[in-house]
Amino acid sequence: MRWWLSLYKLRCISCKSIYDADEVEYTCPKCGPRFGTLEVIYDYDEIKVNKEEFDKNSDIWQFEGILPIERGSYRTKLKVGGTPLYEFPDIAEKFKVGRLFVKYDGGNPTASYKDRASALAITKAYEKGYDTIYCASTGNAASSLAGLAAPTDLNVYIFLPASAPIAKISQLFIYGANVIPIDGSYDQAFDVSMKIGEMKGWYSRNSAINPYLLEGKKTGAMEIAVQLDWNVPDYVIVGVGDGTVVSSIYKGFYDFYKLNLIGGIPKIIGIQAEGADAVKRAFDRGEPFEPVDMPARTIADSISVGKPRDVIKACKYVKKSGGFFVSVSDEEIIRSVKELSESTGIFAEPAGAVSYAGFKKLNEEGFFTKNDTIVLVVTGNGLKDVKAIERFVEINPVKPKLDLVMDYIDGMEKKK
Ligand SMILES: Cc1ncc(COP(=O)(O)O)c(C=O)c1O
Ligand SMILES: [Zn+2]
Repeated sequence: MRWWLSLYKLRCISCKSIYDADEVEYTCPKCGPRFGTLEVIYDYDEIKVNKEEFDKNSDIWQFEGILPIERGSYRTKLKVGGTPLYEFPDIAEKFKVGRLFVKYDGGNPTASYKDRASALAITKAYEKGYDTIYCASTGNAASSLAGLAAPTDLNVYIFLPASAPIAKISQLFIYGANVIPIDGSYDQAFDVSMKIGEMKGWYSRNSAINPYLLEGKKTGAMEIAVQLDWNVPDYVIVGVGDGTVVSSIYKGFYDFYKLNLIGGIPKIIGIQAEGADAVKRAFDRGEPFEPVDMPARTIADSISVGKPRDVIKACKYVKKSGGFFVSVSDEEIIRSVKELSESTGIFAEPAGAVSYAGFKKLNEEGFFTKNDTIVLVVTGNGLKDVKAIERFVEINPVKPKLDLVMDYIDGMEKKK
């Protein structure tokens, strides 16, 4: 038996059946893809890690002892993770909360949180001996897979809505992926990709059904714990589409808690767009959690998901953390992109700014106190979707003549 097989197993989120890592590839055969997503569970007594070995700026591979990967297998060339955690005392003061931090993942190699998952998927594809990997995506999973796999010899196939922002689609072409633009929604792209992936025998980097993606994403939570010197915040707030990122935040803290590295797990608050809040709806109906699918419509394209694939895990984990889900309108999201940019210098894509929008909404309701430490996760870079913020962009060209430019500046000053 290879060493890692004894370190972790796969457990169905619904029926709790436990599988050896080489027994199932994706989801529990008894419960199916929706209810049978798998958790990676570890024998924590066998994991030997201590606080001193972790660094505030290192990449995700510093956590390899707590990841389901083999020693010496493929690791991404570019630095994934090790993203900054910024504190904003002035914003905390303005909103009368204790401490406010932003974990900014737009600085990853392809500019989103999804790089953490794609890195793991590529490693697993190699470990499992695949030569082709595919995914369906709203855009960021695709661009991260295409980018991180670009320097490898893996073939990459991407299924995404043709309506995805042009910057994300451009990333795919520039990285040389095989792009299948679907004339339909992300949910439809996902379903067709699953059938084709199975027929072709390709490795799937599809959200939720591949249990290792969440393990890659959990490194974001682990970094927060390391960057806060092992003090756990009261709340972590993050955007939700399929529900894997929000689940991964719980899992990262949970693993550290089980390893006695931290004293508790923060309450996790998932933020959805009002027009695509299927996870919130499922959560609010209560246990036993069941999917409540809907047609999705929101300007936050990355979380425009109507059939969330990780809904069961997201609801269970968020509940265990003592958290909940909130939805925000497209108007609140776009205003948040602008306000966050102006107050912090962090330009987030709409799905990245929802954490700020949700924070503000809850704060207006008087939810937070001056004792609370809050971390907002900003999952994607604003340059990925400039069309979403076009209302703030005004280009009225002026001829390069001194008097005309002076008048132009006077006009600007009057407007202030
Ligand atoms: C920028 C950004 N934020 C949040 C999410 C939500 O992640 P999940 O679908 O795992 O809930 C995504 C997913 O594509 C994303 O790209
Ligand atoms: Zn099951």
